[in-house]
Amino acid sequence: MREGDKRMDTKIMRYSDTDTIGRPLIISYSYSGHTHRIAQEIQDLTGGDWREIYPWQPYPMAFPELLDQVKKEIQTGYHPRLLPSPSNPKPYSVVFAGAPNWCGTLAPPLASWLAKNNLSHKIILPFYSHCGGVPCDFRWDIARLCPQAEVRQAFCAVEDGGDGLREALIQWMGQVGLAEIVRTAQ
Ligand SMILES: Cc1cc2nc3c(=O)[nH]c(=O)nc-3n(C[C@H](O)[C@H](O)[C@H](O)COP(=O)(O)O)c2cc1C
Repeated sequence: MREGDKRMDTKIMRYSDTDTIGRPLIISYSYSGHTHRIAQEIQDLTGGDWREIYPWQPYPMAFPELLDQVKKEIQTGYHPRLLPSPSNPKPYSVVFAGAPNWCGTLAPPLASWLAKNNLSHKIILPFYSHCGGVPCDFRWDIARLCPQAEVRQAFCAVEDGGDGLREALIQWMGQVGLAEIVRTAQ
């Protein structure tokens, strides 16, 4: 660790085929990068396999058009088509699923991925970035999309979570009963 590095001194647990939890899958959609930073930190902490997802048709750059499109997609329950990505959840028992909070719910590309994959009997750990605006309930929204999955309490961060992100993630993993996927060094 570099001198002055404020990050908690953690070591990633290594997994064997016989581990009960196994390496997690981390899925994230991010429009402006904040959610990807959270995903990257989860990847660093857990040694999981991180896959970014992208809509087939990129969202508009201008905010009024973006907001207009997103509102329509959410109101109609539209699931945008995604670019192909090697994100088959089948071998995993734990899936971290993250996106920004858009208009009080998950950004539609994550809803697309969750709806098109079979996550029955898996543990889903939702995470999201927000700006302190309209609140959301990712746990509830994901449970509706994946009724056969065990969806646990969501992690949230304002924008990219700032300096305390790593410690907050470790605390959350303890709260959701998965402290053992991260090992804190003595
Ligand atoms: C179309 C749109 C809708 C948004 N709606 C909300 C909202 O309802 N509540 C909120 O707290 N933040 C909202 N935000 C802010 C984003 O959640 C926030 O900027 C987040 O950090 C973006 O994450 P990203 O960089 O991974 O895309 C919205 C942003 C956009 C672009």
